[in-house]
Amino acid sequence: MNSGVLTASYLIAAVLFILSLAGLSKQETAKNGNLYGIIGMAIALVATLSRPEVSAVWLILIAMAIGAVIGAKVALKVEMTEMPELVAILHSFVGLAAVLVGYNSYADHVPMTGVMLNIHLTEIFLGVFIGAVTFTGSVVAFGKLRGKISSKALTLPHRHKLNLAACVISFLLMIYFVKNGGSTFSLLVMTAIALWFGWHLVSSIGGADMPVVISMLNSYSGWAAAAAGFMLSNDLLIITGALVGSSGAILSYIMCKAMNRSFISVIAGGFGNDPVDHGDGEEYGDPVEITAEGVAEMLKGSKSIVITPGYGMAVAQAQHPIYEITQKLRADGINVRFGIHPVAGRLPGHMNVLLAEAKVPYDIVLGMEEINDDLSDTDTVLVIGANDTVNPAAAENPSSPLAGMPVLEVWKARNVVVFKRGMSTGYAGVQNPLFFKENTSMLFGDAKASVDAILKAL
Ligand code: TAP
Repeated sequence: MNSGVLTASYLIAAVLFILSLAGLSKQETAKNGNLYGIIGMAIALVATLSRPEVSAVWLILIAMAIGAVIGAKVALKVEMTEMPELVAILHSFVGLAAVLVGYNSYADHVPMTGVMLNIHLTEIFLGVFIGAVTFTGSVVAFGKLRGKISSKALTLPHRHKLNLAACVISFLLMIYFVKNGGSTFSLLVMTAIALWFGWHLVSSIGGADMPVVISMLNSYSGWAAAAAGFMLSNDLLIITGALVGSSGAILSYIMCKAMNRSFISVIAGGFGNDPVDHGDGEEYGDPVEITAEGVAEMLKGSKSIVITPGYGMAVAQAQHPIYEITQKLRADGINVRFGIHPVAGRLPGHMNVLLAEAKVPYDIVLGMEEINDDLSDTDTVLVIGANDTVNPAAAENPSSPLAGMPVLEVWKARNVVVFKRGMSTGYAGVQNPLFFKENTSMLFGDAKASVDAILKAL
């Protein structure tokens, strides 16, 4: 492929990636967005394999085939609830790839001198640093999401000073590395520091802030890819990495705003997230239980109903019978709507995807800000497997890890029914005073079984 065709192919692929991002921003256009991304990536791969400096194409094809088989197997098997873990571990691969590309560029680069050599060495150093932070950070995020590592924030003594020391030492090592025309020792020491830094950064962030961490790691993985693009002199990789990096940063910012968190404090490893009160010491009394038949009677006597789903609905896969109940009640003239918290579930838009899969019309699915003012005029709220996102402690207890995060104010409705299996806490590990309020009843059991029983009783 000559350089003109190569540049044109890269340009077309870059435009397709931009169209893909634009498509993915709305549910109605998300399928097309995915398609643009797939076509763009296919063009990018063919063009890159046709570059004159690429040799032993057959080796790359074998590696791609093995990767494609593993990727397809994992993607076909993965449950919707495991999606964030998959994304986190995939980010770690991007980080690791940037580290390997960095070491490879260091060991084997075209001879250069002067400013060009300095620029190249800086690219290598930064690429390895960002890649290593992304790698361990993503592995910890994977462990936290899978429940292998506690979701509570790790608070080492002097943790902010340790983070600062890691950055300052790495910076000094970079100056030494560039000034000496390279130094394997400083590259190795910085890699070890960066691996620790990534681990510590994500370990110090508490459960409730995990959504921001995931989008932040998404952003880091983009910058790691862009750094690899600089090292390999591949323009498309630079563009793609910058697109992922900046869109991830924008998403992190939006998430921080939705959760009323300081962007700087989250990226600095939970800066200022003390003190914490998980509400374990409080005396709440006993929750009031209700049966499926009781809930059915309550629903029949209601004029307005709001359903607030959470992670438990995804685990139970209860979205289909919930929509059946909705249709039944709406046919009887009852106003039934859904209220969605921006971080309900385990990935951005998790609940919207599940409800769309069950064919719930978009116009009755409202965001938290749209529904919150209506909750005091609502007869019944059904909290289906949600916990942190409906926790009044966020508004009432300034020492709670959830403090300041806007939540669905379901306790303002006349009646609240909470669907869950037992009294365990939500992802942030915080006790929920909602369960003990006078107007709250608990329907214990798997959410799908409970919803099926209500459907039968209706
Ligand atoms: P959570 O606070 O995680 O609570 C889910 C509840 O569902 C649990 O209390 C659990 O109680 C219940 N549950 C689990 N399986 C169930 C089943 N089969 N049937 C019935 N109930 C079931 O949920 P949420 O309100 O959606 O909040 C999300 C949390 O995850 C937030 O803290 C958020 O910050 C965090 N997070 C979000 C994201 C994104 S991007 N959305 C990413 C990472 C973390 P039982 O065990 O007692 O049944």
